[in-house]
Amino acid sequence: MILSEDGSFTAYSKEYDEHYHSTKDGALHESLVKHVLPAFKIVENKDEINILDICYGLGFNTLATLLYYKQNNLTSKLNIYSPELDANLVKSLENFTYPKEFEEFKNIILQLSENGFYDDGVWRIEVFLGDAREYIKQFTADSFDVVYQDAFSPSTNPILWTKEYFSDIKNIIKPEGILTTYSIALATRLALYENDFNIYTNSGENFRVSTVASPSLLSEFKSIDMEHKISCNLDAKSLRD
Ligand SMILES: C[S@@+](CC[C@H](N)C(=O)[O-])C[C@H]1O[C@@H](n2cnc3c(N)ncnc32)[C@H](O)[C@@H]1O
Repeated sequence: MILSEDGSFTAYSKEYDEHYHSTKDGALHESLVKHVLPAFKIVENKDEINILDICYGLGFNTLATLLYYKQNNLTSKLNIYSPELDANLVKSLENFTYPKEFEEFKNIILQLSENGFYDDGVWRIEVFLGDAREYIKQFTADSFDVVYQDAFSPSTNPILWTKEYFSDIKNIIKPEGILTTYSIALATRLALYENDFNIYTNSGENFRVSTVASPSLLSEFKSIDMEHKISCNLDAKSLRD
């Protein structure tokens, strides 16, 4: 465990030689500003919200979503689907030192860690232990309002950032859905753009800029002129399987 700059703990993966969150932006803060807040700018008023949380990791994106629900008195039905390869990690989370903001979700954290499942009739959360690439193939077209794209970085875990991977994501995200990611790499944006996503920057005063993407035109974010980027970087390529 590593203390990040907002006072919340994240972890370091020896296997990937990477932290689970930006230690500078802070684990909880990063989840909120790079994933939850931009996503809920777009989906807040829906009766039912389906989120694909790639990948569960320490569970911050899922738990920060619940926190946002509580803080904003949201009542819409929420379904979160989250794959995670590392079963031992998920098991260990009942002992993880989470920020105090997550204290009210202790029971949920425990159930997800022990059974990979929680359902109280309004919030339904499924943590699938296995490969995200396989997991996403089971969903039908237009399943998700939100995709939190939060795998380890394209350089250390490229298989979750390829053009073919984002093609599968494009099939299952709704036309008006939103994808959020910390990655600002041109290769990531290209892989999304080549699958007909529109690409935007998500920026604010207290965090490093991130990316949002959608099959739809969004007025809430600053659009990136991808044709211009491509013409200035003729050698740039998306990752491929
Ligand atoms: C950056 S961490 C996710 C952080 C997480 N979103 C959070 O908020 O705590 C990336 C996670 O992806 C998992 N992972 C790597 N390859 C995977 C795959 N093919 N399928 C599912 N999970 C994978 C790793 O085990 C790791 O827990």
